[in-house]
Amino acid sequence: MSNTSKMGSEEMIRLCKEHTMYTWAANDAVSPLPVERAEGIYLYTPDGERILDFNSQLMSVNIGHGHPHVRAAMKAQIDQLLYAYPGTATEPRARLGQKLASLVPGDIDTFFFTLGGAEANENAIRAARLYTGRSKILSRYRSYHGGTNLTMQLTGDPRRWANEPGSPGIVRVMDPWPYTFSWAEDEAEITARHLTYLEEVIQYEGPNTIAAMIIETVTGTNGILRPPAGWLQGLRALLDKYGILLICDEVMAGFGRTGKWFAFEHSEIVPDIVTMAKGLTSSYAPLGAMGVRRKIADHFAKNVFWGGLTYNSHALGLATALAVIEVMENEDLVGNAARLEAVMRQEMAKLAERHPTVRGGRAIGLFGMVDLQKNSKGEPLAPYNGASPAMAALGKRFRELSLFTFVRWGSFMCNPPLCITEDELRGAFAIVDEALLVTHPYFEG
Ligand SMILES: Cc1ncc(COP(=O)(O)O)c(C=O)c1O
Repeated sequence: MSNTSKMGSEEMIRLCKEHTMYTWAANDAVSPLPVERAEGIYLYTPDGERILDFNSQLMSVNIGHGHPHVRAAMKAQIDQLLYAYPGTATEPRARLGQKLASLVPGDIDTFFFTLGGAEANENAIRAARLYTGRSKILSRYRSYHGGTNLTMQLTGDPRRWANEPGSPGIVRVMDPWPYTFSWAEDEAEITARHLTYLEEVIQYEGPNTIAAMIIETVTGTNGILRPPAGWLQGLRALLDKYGILLICDEVMAGFGRTGKWFAFEHSEIVPDIVTMAKGLTSSYAPLGAMGVRRKIADHFAKNVFWGGLTYNSHALGLATALAVIEVMENEDLVGNAARLEAVMRQEMAKLAERHPTVRGGRAIGLFGMVDLQKNSKGEPLAPYNGASPAMAALGKRFRELSLFTFVRWGSFMCNPPLCITEDELRGAFAIVDEALLVTHPYFEG
């Protein structure tokens, strides 16, 4: 954009609010951050303010902003071919399919491309229903699977409520880590009890009516929760027993975020279907994918897959994903996420020592969250699905200190781009440490 046409922050915000609708919000209540450009771990406002992106935007810009290798690949694709309809064969489609087949573990070797995560999940459910001839889907309460009609019903969190009633056939179950209680003291016991509960639900619903269970392998927005020890292996065996497919939604947890390419690799199981988006292109272009195991691919080699999209296998998205994967491999960003987990945990422990309002934090790779409390009994600083003056003050302070992250209910997110260095990560926590001082007056003892 030339300097003469440069738009200032105020005008940018005013026009965006006047003529465009924001997500999950009443427009008058939003206070959008004006962003002119972004590079590495930083965003820049039109006024030149540099803001540390401590959430990789929507936990999605995994390689960091504006990587030159990806920008060059995108420009080359623009010059070569921008669009060919989904019935064609193109080079980026051929190359990305082949690349993902070698990258995704197990015999998941065939991919259907969409525009984002919700559509990937929609098509995963479609594939599961067509493959099994069954209709019901199990999902969990502490989950988010997308904003479309069907994926809203798969979603357990409160964003679903205003979208009900939606598609029938979804059965939601409790999580191994519920919000207000624990199944047991011991983790192995939690796994055992939860799987027993799940088997009972399967009996009540009728095993032969259930096509699949969808899980976020590591729960994202609803708590950054890894599965308890042995749970995924137990779940895999339980679903196999009844011929129910396992769909792992790796839209947020995939592409290096947890210190592995895919979060299910932490437990050495292979789902029947995996879905991905966000980190697949680092959000540089819209793209999602559903990957299926060979047995399902074989089924759709002989049977029609009743799904399609105008922008299926869009050349620009596919070329972007290929370049993003190259960057991740060349710069060992998955390894960096794994290495920095210890630093993240250490910094979180320091916060808990210094701030009475910090109940604790958790991280798997560079996927982290800190929970805040209003008293030493551990009551959250804002209630489930609620806000509080203390959390609002914290969000405001992050903004004043030029740190971008999500403050949600009584917690805040720690999900920097995977290219962050150890020094930068410690620097980000130093800002968090300063910001947390505003919560002290709200601690009730
Ligand atoms: C786990 C998970 N699944 C699905 C989605 C939906 O993806 P999209 O917004 O690209 O449709 C999201 C988005 O946040 C997500 O976190």
